[in-house]
Amino acid sequence: MSTESAVRSAFDPKNMKFRNLGPSGLKVSVFSLGGWLTYGGTVKGNPVKECLQLAWDHGINFFDTAEVYANGQSEIEMGRALKELDWPRDEYVLSTKIFFGTGRKEPNTRGLSKKHIIEGLKSSLQRLEQPYVDIVFAHRHDAATPMKEIVEGFTQAIRDLNLAYYWGTSEWSAAQIIEATEIAEKYNLIAPIADQCQYNAFHRERFEVEYRPLYEKYGYGTTIWSPLASGLLTGKYNSGIPDDSRFKTNAAFFSDTVKSLQTPEGKAKIEKVKKLTAIAEKLGTTTSALALAWAASNPNVSTVILGASKPSQITENVKALELLEKLTPEVLREVEDALETRPKEAPAYGRARE
Ligand SMILES: NC(=O)c1ccc[n+]([C@@H]2O[C@H](COP(=O)([O-])OP(=O)(O)OC[C@H]3O[C@@H](n4cnc5c(N)ncnc54)[C@H](OP(=O)(O)O)[C@@H]3O)[C@@H](O)[C@H]2O)c1
Repeated sequence: MSTESAVRSAFDPKNMKFRNLGPSGLKVSVFSLGGWLTYGGTVKGNPVKECLQLAWDHGINFFDTAEVYANGQSEIEMGRALKELDWPRDEYVLSTKIFFGTGRKEPNTRGLSKKHIIEGLKSSLQRLEQPYVDIVFAHRHDAATPMKEIVEGFTQAIRDLNLAYYWGTSEWSAAQIIEATEIAEKYNLIAPIADQCQYNAFHRERFEVEYRPLYEKYGYGTTIWSPLASGLLTGKYNSGIPDDSRFKTNAAFFSDTVKSLQTPEGKAKIEKVKKLTAIAEKLGTTTSALALAWAASNPNVSTVILGASKPSQITENVKALELLEKLTPEVLREVEDALETRPKEAPAYGRARE
C-alpha cells in the first residue's frame, strides 16, 4: 500500500489547540488572525501574504475580515493572499462580516435587510475571490430590520445559496441573540452560533456577565476581538505613542483613546499594564503573550482573533499558546489582583446554580 496521500495537504497544526465554534462541529484554532486596520489598510501586497503564511505555519487555521474593513480593500488583499498561498480550501476557515457596507451612501448597501445580507455577501465573496465563507457575521444588530427577516436572510444565504456554512453575530446584546435563536427554532430557520465581541483585560462585562446565559443555554461561541486592547496590553503605549503604532497611523480614529490615556483612569490602566509586565517577566514571557493567554484561558472563548501589522508581532503573540499551559490558578489569581477589572456577577440572591 502506498503511503503517499491522493489528497493535497498544506496544513501542519504543530502544537496549536482547536476549539469548537460554539455548538457547531467547526474546529477553529484557539488563536486566529484578522485584518481590521491592517490588511488592505496600513499593510498591502506581499507583507499580507507573509503574515497569513506565518500564522498558518504556527497552526492558525482561521482568518477573519469584513466588508467594511478598508471599505472592501481588506477582503481584496486577504483574498489575493489566500489565492496566491493556494492552501486546500477545506483546510482553512474564513469569515467575513456584513452590516456596515463599504462606504457608499445608498441606504440598501448596508444593514441587515435580506437584500443587503445576500447582495453584500455576494460582493464580499467577489472581492475575496471565494465561492463561500465558512462563517458570515452580522457585524452589528440592525434596529431597522425585523429580526425574522434577519434570520431568514442568513438562512437563505446558507441553506439556499451556499454562500456560507454558518452565521454569527457581532456585538449583539444577549437579548437580541436569544430573540434570533428563538425565531430560528420556531420557524425552522438557522440560528447563529457565535458572537464576535470585544474581550480583553480592560473590557469584560458583556463577555463575562451579559453573555453567561448564552453559554449555558446554547453553548454559544465567541471569536473575541481586540484581545490586546489595540496594543495597549503590549506595553508599547506605556510612555508615549510610537510612530509606527496604530494610535499614530490611524490617529483620527484613536484620538479619543489617546486623550483618555492622559486621564487618571487612563494612567491607572498603564500602571496595570506595568504590573502585568512584571508578572510576565517572572514567567519568562512578554506582556502581550500573557494578556493573550489570559484571554484564551477563559473556556467560553472559542478563538482569540489576533491583529498584526508585522510578521514579528505574530511570532511574539503565538508564544501565548505555550504559556496557556502554565497559567495555573495561582498565576491567574496574581493577574486578577494586578488588573482589578473583574466585573461583578449578576446577583443570584443565594440561588446560584451549582
Ligand atoms: N467584530 C468587530 O466589531 C471587530 C472589531 C475590531 C476587531 N475585530 C477583529 O479582531 C481582530 C483583532 O483585533 P485588533 O486588531 O484590534 O487586536 P489587538 O490584538 O487588540 O490589536 C492588534 C494590534 O496591536 C499591535 N500589536 C499586536 N501585537 C503586537 C506586539 N506583539 N507588539 C507590539 N504591537 C502589537 C498591532 O498594531 P500596530 O503595530 O499598528 O500598533 C496590531 O495590529 C481584527 O483584525 C478583526 O478581525 C472585530
